[in-house]
Amino acid sequence: MPECLLTPLRFPAGLVVPNRLWLAPMTNLQSHADGSLSEDELAWLVARARGGFGVIESCATHVSLDGQGWAGEWGIFSDALTPGWRRAAESIGEQGSHLFAQLFHAGERALREEGRRRLSCTAIPGEEVAEATEAEIERIIEDFARGAERAVEAGLSGVELHGAHGYLLCQFLRADRNTRGDRWGGSYENRLRLIRTVMRTVRSRVPSTFVVGVRLSPENGTFLSGLDLDESLRTAAVLCEEGADFIHISLWDSKAMTAKRPEQHPARAFREALPAEVPVITAGEIWTAEDARGQREHGADAVALGRAGITTPDWPRRVAAEGGEPLRPPVTAEQLRERALGEKFVEYMRRWPGFVTEEES
Ligand SMILES: Cc1cc2nc3c(=O)[nH]c(=O)nc-3n(C[C@H](O)[C@H](O)[C@H](O)COP(=O)(O)O)c2cc1C
Repeated sequence: MPECLLTPLRFPAGLVVPNRLWLAPMTNLQSHADGSLSEDELAWLVARARGGFGVIESCATHVSLDGQGWAGEWGIFSDALTPGWRRAAESIGEQGSHLFAQLFHAGERALREEGRRRLSCTAIPGEEVAEATEAEIERIIEDFARGAERAVEAGLSGVELHGAHGYLLCQFLRADRNTRGDRWGGSYENRLRLIRTVMRTVRSRVPSTFVVGVRLSPENGTFLSGLDLDESLRTAAVLCEEGADFIHISLWDSKAMTAKRPEQHPARAFREALPAEVPVITAGEIWTAEDARGQREHGADAVALGRAGITTPDWPRRVAAEGGEPLRPPVTAEQLRERALGEKFVEYMRRWPGFVTEEES
């Protein structure tokens, strides 16, 4: 039943994308030192749009300079970067696909750079991480809004707020980290305030037809969200009330049931907790069409592919439509180059256990 993967997907904002297959957001370290788009970053994304992915998510892109996570990260923190985003949106649009920018601030996990203050909800002594002041929090909210406005100006179809994997929005959610005594920390309501305010502010600054979604880590797993399943469901529901157009849950292993209720799959839990018109997207170890269809059966409205999207740029056509097989790791550096990865991305993938082999195929 490839239909369940290849039918159009509609968002509350009104946008309709051609299918239920997304390229997951992937940091690839290929852009220029000043945060501007490189030819390599563009080529990698356009090849996946050509391969049939209905939505192409950008890497986590920093909305503030002090939120940059890695060298070579594509930025959205300055108007000077907008032409690159426009070029990417146009090139991806020419393939019939839609570009969403993943807006993020790395918080305590930001790059250590001379002259930059690293910020989080609370200070981390010995790690040069300072507690964000009220003024800095307000400035970061504005930075998210400006990032979203730039995405609109550049002709993108949407943005995803990166509320997963332990970066700034996630750091504020965590009870064990966010012990602030002001309105931004302590109680669950206060810990929720930053991501909620960012969603509300971004939504109010972009056209109603522009898609604004959010990515969450649903349970306290490898990449800490600090939330248990029910708090995550509540968080997602609140974000839908604030206008979220989709909820993307980052699972790492999408076959696993929830830790809290082992009889319940996370996609089902989110699908049942959220308004029917808000799509739920899952990601994590989706390699085959059967894996993807399994997610749809669990309640996901669409799936995001990470590593399978790297090895098999035309996954939507080859695997979902024609019933073929994806290329599985380990893969050679040459195979990655043939699939439009630049040298920096190839080097980065060598750091992922078992992904790149030195042997020729
Ligand atoms: C090279 C690489 C870079 C990634 N960068 C990001 C990122 O910038 N933002 C994010 O939310 N997730 C990031 N992820 C996680 C993926 O989006 C995805 O959720 C994860 O890889 C699981 O899916 P997969 O098993 O299909 O690869 C990254 C994963 C990989 C492999």
